[in-house]
Amino acid sequence: MSDIEAERVYIFDTTLRDGEQSPGCSMNLEEKLKIAALLDEMGVDIIEAGFPMASKGDFESVNAIAKIVKNATVCGLSRAIKRDIEVCAEAIEPAAHRRIHTFISTSPLHMKHKLQMDEDTVIEAIRESVSFANKFTDDVEWSAEDGSRTEDDFLCRAVETAINAGARTINIPDTVGYATPTDYSALITMLKNRVPNIDKAILSVHCHNDLGLAVANSLAGVNAGARQIECTINGIGERAGNAAMEEIIMAIRTRQNQYPYTNNIKTEMITKASRTLSKVTGFNVQPNKAIVGANAFAHESGIHQDGMLKHRGTYEIMTPESVGLTESNLVMGKHSGRHAFRAKLEDLGYTLGDNALNDAFARFKDLADQKKEIFDDDIIALMDDKSRIDNSHDIQFIDLVIHAGTDGPQTARISLSIDGKTSHAEASGNGPVDAMFKAIRDIYPHDDTDLLLYNVHAVTGGIDAQAEVTVRLQQNSHIVNGKGANVDTMIASAKAYVHALNKLSHIKHLAAANGEDEQPIYEVGP
Ligand code: KIV
Ligand code: ZN
Repeated sequence: MSDIEAERVYIFDTTLRDGEQSPGCSMNLEEKLKIAALLDEMGVDIIEAGFPMASKGDFESVNAIAKIVKNATVCGLSRAIKRDIEVCAEAIEPAAHRRIHTFISTSPLHMKHKLQMDEDTVIEAIRESVSFANKFTDDVEWSAEDGSRTEDDFLCRAVETAINAGARTINIPDTVGYATPTDYSALITMLKNRVPNIDKAILSVHCHNDLGLAVANSLAGVNAGARQIECTINGIGERAGNAAMEEIIMAIRTRQNQYPYTNNIKTEMITKASRTLSKVTGFNVQPNKAIVGANAFAHESGIHQDGMLKHRGTYEIMTPESVGLTESNLVMGKHSGRHAFRAKLEDLGYTLGDNALNDAFARFKDLADQKKEIFDDDIIALMDDKSRIDNSHDIQFIDLVIHAGTDGPQTARISLSIDGKTSHAEASGNGPVDAMFKAIRDIYPHDDTDLLLYNVHAVTGGIDAQAEVTVRLQQNSHIVNGKGANVDTMIASAKAYVHALNKLSHIKHLAAANGEDEQPIYEVGP
């Protein structure tokens, strides 16, 4: 490898696999395709699209992603099991560049309790799985699960075996987020120094955030010689999550003196990627989250604002523009015309025909009657809400009357149209939201479904801000997020609940049409 190549760091995004695997982050096919296309456009080198053997749905989404990704390598995960690898190879087959990522645990704890395998058996499984994967592609990645808690001698032996069997990338996960930057740097250095064939593979870092050190560990690993970083948008992932891509990329860009590496990521797309993922999963990032939190570029105190006016460098180490954050401009109000509205929509990426434009303009005027100032984010919420309604066929929200306040009981009367037939129900509950959700259950019974999350988010500032509500429902193995937006939080809540029910109903119809059982083919495990 030449010196110039050695400076390049490859970005391996696992939002759609390790990220999606975390509770409540599941996405449907359409949502996964949207994220995959965005990652590809952003310049990610490798997209880990899923774990094809985990379920039929996972297989189909990896396969569909493999068909649409243009530049990135599409990767699928598989255990050290031949059938997993075959299924994975089939799923990624349509991709122009494909990678099989196979893994097995190497730590004493995992080998004894999870795998119940001894060291020699694990070594044999590595040899067999990597060479079998090599029959389908020459781009094979091997991971030592719980690598950071593995004994050095055995890890060296395992890595050497994987490289001899044909692995071109060796990933050393800090699966449980236990390592510190000092440990992790020493681990990568140890492998570089001791594994005789290490120059034949790229070393990769994969850090979980249980101690809040995932990004620091990843960067320490790269400084010790790793050249691939595994990460996720917004740091989503198992438990406390994975290393956040936006933090890694901006640390590299901002601190070139410490991290003199190049990568292909278009940093100006970071905000869009973060917001799109939040919208799709219903996981809003905390306001003070580095790079993508709502306050990450806000300067509140008088002293800071004064400094910023004198010189931006006083309190700003990166510009908001570098991550694609533009001021949420005040766009218009009730006097704005159709022409300006169309131009604004085009700016925001919505191209509409005349009829759709008239319809959107009417909804914009309604909103302008309720809300004095309309920002970009209001228009995006308005358009997204409409597309959700258009895609919700079985159950439609019609109207809602709420009685709330200190003079209980709180009641809700709701009208829904189910398959074209309008029904009404009234219920009381512990507050208006509970009452409304009960009324929805009366009209459309779904006792097999649990409410996992109810979240309200103000789209913009101000007391007249639109509320964007996320409702997460679970039915058997399916978890879906519903969204709704309105200046009235109760209406947004009803729309979000109905949206989630429509998604579940869609899953049911699909399963019935395919004569499928809805359970995963195999449990994801050792
Ligand atoms: O954290 C981990 O160990 C993993 C492996 C499957 C790569 O996600
Ligand atoms: Zn992981």
